[in-house]
Amino acid sequence: MKEQIGAIEKDALAQITAAINERSLDDARVAVLGKKGSLTLVAVGIKDVPKEDKAAVGQLLNAARAVISAALDVKQTALREIADRAALAGMDPTLPARALPPGALHPLTQIRDQAISILRRMGFALADGPEIEDEFHCFDALNTPADHPARNEKDTFYFDSGKLLRTHTSSVQIRSMEAQAPPIRIIAPGSAYRRDEIDATHLSVFNQLEGLAVGADISLPDLKGTLEYFFRELFGTTTEVRFRPHFFPFTEPSFEIDVKLQIKGQAPRWIEVAGCGMVDPAVFDAINKSRKDHAYDPENTTGFAFGMGLDRLAMIRWGIRDIRLLIENDVRFLRQFA
Ligand code: PHE
Repeated sequence: MKEQIGAIEKDALAQITAAINERSLDDARVAVLGKKGSLTLVAVGIKDVPKEDKAAVGQLLNAARAVISAALDVKQTALREIADRAALAGMDPTLPARALPPGALHPLTQIRDQAISILRRMGFALADGPEIEDEFHCFDALNTPADHPARNEKDTFYFDSGKLLRTHTSSVQIRSMEAQAPPIRIIAPGSAYRRDEIDATHLSVFNQLEGLAVGADISLPDLKGTLEYFFRELFGTTTEVRFRPHFFPFTEPSFEIDVKLQIKGQAPRWIEVAGCGMVDPAVFDAINKSRKDHAYDPENTTGFAFGMGLDRLAMIRWGIRDIRLLIENDVRFLRQFA
């Protein structure tokens, strides 16, 4: 057996020396040390070796395995170096690297981040909610009756389960009030979905940012001051802002907000940018019922809410004529915002 071991070791070292690549080296390793390798098979014979010789033969086996393994390692390193060098052959490391143009944030992300940062400075916290909503959070709790056009299947994406893709982020305001007693001051940026015909100013998914402030004595001037400040921060400190009476089921009184702006290449004009109003007491009633308490007592709780389309704000800010550009991800378009 001693001779066998010696012969295997000699043979293995010869194979290792002869190996010309990692593959043939691996073949050599398997042929000797693998499950059915020559050294492995010989090692099985140790059970027939007379007791007094077992220790010596065992040592021989271990020594042979160590020598072969070490030779395999050395050869492996050498082969890898050769392969690496071959891969680099013909390459000129002194050539300048290919330019990697820096990336940029999408215009929607830019405007959203800016809007969030202005509102956070005024103490609004970020809130979030599901895009797949139920009718209660999207409509009922917002004082929007069953026969309101927004609830029509022609306007809203419904699932068979009765759930729907939220038509506005106002649902987050309901969820926030359910979860937290006043005072509350939150903003909810996120996607909203409507069954609109797709054209230059409409997509079936768009991005909103809504806000809500509720407390003991929040009044219309707070609403006005907050939003005037907001739009002047966003569009410039001298921007004119006007509040036009409007109707929303969940606010009373309600307004649409226009800002007077000059879009690139056009004459200055009033542009509608948001909806807002004082929270309708009927909304507080619905919240109390859902919370099963009286935390939003309509007698001494007031608040304001507002909502705006971020896509629209981006289009105004940069004079973008077609909303579809915002989702097509054409780098020629996006590069302009870097
Ligand atoms: N939810 C309204 C919309 O999607 C916007 C809005 C929010 C209006 C809050 C008033 C108050 O059009």
